[in-house]
Amino acid sequence: MKRTIKTLTAASVVAAIVGGGVVYFGVFNVGADDPHSQPVHSLLSIARDRSIEVRSRDIEVPDLTDEALIRAGAGNYNAMCIGCHLAPGVAQTELSKSLYPAPPNLSSLGVDGNPAAAFWIIKHGIKSTGMPAWGKSMADPYIWGMVAFLQQLPGMDAQGYRALAASSGGHQHGGGETKMHNHEGQHDEQKDATSGHRHDVGGTEELAEVDVHHGDTSGAHAPAPSAAQPKTHTHADGKEHTHAQ
Ligand code: HEC
Repeated sequence: MKRTIKTLTAASVVAAIVGGGVVYFGVFNVGADDPHSQPVHSLLSIARDRSIEVRSRDIEVPDLTDEALIRAGAGNYNAMCIGCHLAPGVAQTELSKSLYPAPPNLSSLGVDGNPAAAFWIIKHGIKSTGMPAWGKSMADPYIWGMVAFLQQLPGMDAQGYRALAASSGGHQHGGGETKMHNHEGQHDEQKDATSGHRHDVGGTEELAEVDVHHGDTSGAHAPAPSAAQPKTHTHADGKEHTHAQ
């Protein structure tokens, strides 16, 4: 018995040293361009699915066929989600291509057969994936609106999608917002990011022009016209970078 205890103690000390070494020497690559190995990937995805399943099974799903709810959801989705999750007519964005894990294309996946789980995910987000916890700034009825909309999305074409988003009144979410919602400022930045940003890698792909922050289709928040001259600045590595304005 004493011997077993000694052996177990020695084994845990060795495990702790190896574990500490792996962390200390930076063996684990946190780079988002280095996919997990298959066993790690499987383990993480089982843990994710079980975590969501356990937490969402008692959520009561309201009537998701209400037209006003679906319409409101379309405006919010268009405003906040398409940069990562795409939409009919938006095939690819920088975020959708570059995040790891990749955000699923919700225009074909919809709520993936489980509206309660979709609600939970949208409200609470998913750690270390880029999926934000929208519940921090959005009240539940607005989140249900997006779930209701997502349930309809896979059947929509680009024209139907745009018409619905345009008729929705755009971005709205009842409570919790802070002055982050200074739309003017965001738009100016966004203009830089989407229309003025040049790439010198590959360079052949057309990027979808997406207003990530909110596809406010009313035009009320159109970016202020800026100086006609392109802005050029030099980065720390000496490369010049031009923003066409
Ligand atoms: C910055 C990128 C980003 C934004 C913006 C974003 N998401 Fe996500 N979302 C993700 C990623 C990444 C995942 C996948 C996480 C994973 O693999 O576990 C995800 C997962 C999801 C899922 C689960 C899909 C499934 O069944 O696997 C839903 C539903 C979802 N997001 C809805 C939304 C909605 C609605 C919005 C807008 C309010 C939104 N997301 C905005 C990155 C984003």
